[in-house]
Amino acid sequence: MRSEIYRSASKTVKALLSASRSSPLLAEGRAVAAAAATSFRGKTPALASFYERAHSKSAFNTWFSGALVLPAAVYMLQEQEAHAAELERTFIAIKPDGVQRGLIAEIISRFERKGFKLVAIKLVVPSKDFAQKHYHDLKERPFFNGLCNFLSSGPVLAMVWEGEGVIKYGRKLIGATDPQKSEPGTIRGDLAVVVGRNIIHGSDGPETAKDEINLWFQPEELVSYTSNAEKWVYGDN
Ligand code: RTP
Ligand code: MG
Repeated sequence: MRSEIYRSASKTVKALLSASRSSPLLAEGRAVAAAAATSFRGKTPALASFYERAHSKSAFNTWFSGALVLPAAVYMLQEQEAHAAELERTFIAIKPDGVQRGLIAEIISRFERKGFKLVAIKLVVPSKDFAQKHYHDLKERPFFNGLCNFLSSGPVLAMVWEGEGVIKYGRKLIGATDPQKSEPGTIRGDLAVVVGRNIIHGSDGPETAKDEINLWFQPEELVSYTSNAEKWVYGDN
């Protein structure tokens, strides 16, 4: 809902920008401002009143005000839009082998460089009971007990990453479960050799992502913020 509002407001501003580019700013400016205020009213009242005030008779009589106000509004919207668009989140954990091998920075940097945003992180030693909860869907598998012993054997770096398509693409960055079959260029392909020590976990779908985030983190541990990079990572032309 919030993101729809800002998307719509952003579209209006984009239209404003192209209108102001193709015609003399002052001549078009007042009509454009009125249209913007109408469009924002009822959706983003603060922005509507910002527009109305900025484009009142006295304020809009100079080229100066038009030139400054419009880009400022666009900038504000870009910021708000990036923040408002609460993107998909996934749970990623560096298992005890990845932590012990000093691969934390290497793994985090791959997610960062892609353009995903870190919204929660903590180092924990999970209990065996907790590990069993995390891997509950594998409880019938012969390796379940060993897997849970291993996950609870040392520090695990638990994280939540956010971004468009992060659940599926996070799995791509990680690579196939068995490092013998992971493609080179993936985390497991480049940094692990056997399935029992494949260094990283990633949620395999939207439902498991939600469940795993709730299992590992309290809501207040998730940090919503606007990254400066977002307006360069996202956008359409
Ligand atoms: P993960 O949950 O850890 O991200 O791994 P995954 O989705 O790629 O694979 P999954 O089937 O969920 O298996 C969970 C973890 O169990 C260990 N495993 N061992 N011995 C085996 O054949 C075997 N198969 C899986 C791996 O550590 C795997 O990551
Ligand atoms: Mg799995």
